[in-house]
Amino acid sequence: MSEPDGAPGPERSSALPAVRAEPPKRVRVQHLRAAKENGEKLTMLTAYDLPTARIFDAAGIDMLLVGDSYGDNMLGHSGTIPVTVDELIPAVRAVARGAKRAMVVADLPFGSYEASPQQAMASATRMLKAGGAHAVKFEGGRRVADHVRLLTDSGVPVVGHLGFTPQSENILGGKRVQGRGDESAEQVVADAKAIEAAGAVAVVLEMVPAAVAERVSGELSIPTIGIGAGAACDGQVLVWLDMVGMGGWSPRFAKQFAAVGAEMDRATRAYIDEVRAGTFPGREHTYWD
Ligand code: KIV
Repeated sequence: MSEPDGAPGPERSSALPAVRAEPPKRVRVQHLRAAKENGEKLTMLTAYDLPTARIFDAAGIDMLLVGDSYGDNMLGHSGTIPVTVDELIPAVRAVARGAKRAMVVADLPFGSYEASPQQAMASATRMLKAGGAHAVKFEGGRRVADHVRLLTDSGVPVVGHLGFTPQSENILGGKRVQGRGDESAEQVVADAKAIEAAGAVAVVLEMVPAAVAERVSGELSIPTIGIGAGAACDGQVLVWLDMVGMGGWSPRFAKQFAAVGAEMDRATRAYIDEVRAGTFPGREHTYWD
């Protein structure tokens, strides 16, 4: 068991590279499994641009996810479904430039991998070559096990995504908890085992009952990264805008650790007022010769 704050116990050193090491040392696939074995919680946040990637990386986040949530959060799409590989690649590139320690994981958008392992490989290749990602994530269990296998064998680390999978929102009937009831829970467990056996390095569990996530975490050797899946997961992920109070839809699992949206609103109003009042720019903001 880890200490309450997620740090390793006093007698154990961390399995993860030190934060702010010089030169920086990257979080890699072997560290994910070692962290789980060591009882250390993994931390993941989404990031979609350079400044946020730099802040999260310097603070010590282990994994940065350039999620397809970029589509709704940053591009104003109705959900994750419309976002494309072409749209995501510049965001992946910016995040990869800002991340010195964190593993950068790029989502494969809807329509860019489902048809075949070869299609998944082609999209992943773009995320690694053009984007600079270190791993890719895509949704699904047994139905994409062959995709996971081909990518793994080809040198691409894969993070799975089970439970509520936003790209399947239409067939799931909306944003609904998955894995409720024995049969549904067994499906989640079987899917998780299938992608682990195919070589996945971690699996995101989204909106599943805590007991199901705990069972999956206990039965897998690879880490589970929870979002709305309880505290027994081996790590946690949040959409960064939700984490700082800038998100739109606010599910119960999205704890706000800061009110950055409110602070930006305050700053914007102050700026408008000062410009209108002629008090900004002041003498100290002005070149005199
Ligand atoms: O795209 C995303 O932000 C995600 C997280 C919700 C895990 O997939």
